[in-house]
Amino acid sequence: MDDTPSAQTSAAQHPTAQNNAAPDPSASDLVQAIIDDFPDHKPGTRPIHTIGVGVEGYFEASDVARSYCRAEHFGGQRVPVSVRFSNGSGSPVQHDGWNDVRGMATRFHLQNGATDLIAMTLNGFFVRTTKEFIAFTTAARQRPVRKASPWQKLLDMLQLKPPLPDPHPGQTASGDAGTLEYANAHPVAQLAVFQAGSIGAPVSYCRAAYHAVHTFIVTDPDGVRRPVRFAWKPVAGVRNTDPTLPPVDNYLQAEIRERLKQWPARFLLMMTIGESGDAFDDPTVPWPAHRVRVVMGTLTLTKVAEDQAAAAEHISFNPWRLVDGIEPSNDPILLARRDAYEESRKRRGGTACPFSHGAQ
Ligand code: HEM
Repeated sequence: MDDTPSAQTSAAQHPTAQNNAAPDPSASDLVQAIIDDFPDHKPGTRPIHTIGVGVEGYFEASDVARSYCRAEHFGGQRVPVSVRFSNGSGSPVQHDGWNDVRGMATRFHLQNGATDLIAMTLNGFFVRTTKEFIAFTTAARQRPVRKASPWQKLLDMLQLKPPLPDPHPGQTASGDAGTLEYANAHPVAQLAVFQAGSIGAPVSYCRAAYHAVHTFIVTDPDGVRRPVRFAWKPVAGVRNTDPTLPPVDNYLQAEIRERLKQWPARFLLMMTIGESGDAFDDPTVPWPAHRVRVVMGTLTLTKVAEDQAAAAEHISFNPWRLVDGIEPSNDPILLARRDAYEESRKRRGGTACPFSHGAQ
């Protein structure tokens, strides 16, 4: 059975692929560019979002969900889910307290298959195309870090440049300087780079909001198609650690284990509906804040999975693992992720999904 999330087109054939002379980077180029950003990458692990924890629970759609989307998990019945929370870094060393994006990858287990929703704590991405992605990751290669002097910070502020964040204690190399230089030259990257630079560390994986970033097209029972963006909102609210205290390296996995022993953790699945003129194919551009937002359901997390090798290490998610009722938009970054995640899964020996996928 085909284990590649389905689509009829490849990145090179996609209508919105850039028409520059140079060929678009391959999935292998994209994965290698990420690996090159993390000198301590360990083969056999994810090149990014490397440290993670697998959690189990279930999803229950809201009453209105099915009137917007005919996909099976919005039908109202309780759907089992597997979630992998992660730190964004590609380093295999756990640095929970560092300033870092966090990930939440969710698999909905359906009657005849599965669908994935991959989200992170930024509400936009750094780049619009795969060529920009290669340029950005090249800029983000790690360099030795120096704490900027107070004079340098003052100079940066006078030039309206955001000063570099101070390195974490013990941090010897970072890609921050390169990403800031990239953002200074490429305004589209500024929102995500500046957000990432000050995102901090959550007190719990269950106290952060996660955004799926791209536009998807959902179809309702009458066949009406709508452009939407999904996000998870934690019922317990968003809360970060105190940035003035020294970072602690290893607390997030113990925290969620203890939390779920006491009480389930809940997230609301929010779906924002796009309107004419919104950016449907560009993940760097947020939609206006006053767009209609629908609560599509509640995720209840009940326990940390017993078999972490299966639930966190070997499992592989893919944003193209979709089912009838949800389609990808023409976003070139979303398109590129389909093959890049599959390439990465093969390289690290991750589990192939046993289902065929129906996103056409
Ligand atoms: C061209 C753009 C991107 C590329 C090339 C890329 C590449 C990758 C790769 C290779 C992995 C590891 C996959 C695996 O081995 O299973 C990964 C994981 C991940 N990515 Fe991306 N990514 C991109 C954009 C994004 C965006 C826009 C998001 C925002 C939702 C995102 C969120 C994540 C998360 C949360 C994970 C961890 C998933 C897990 O727990 O298995 N990525 N990415």
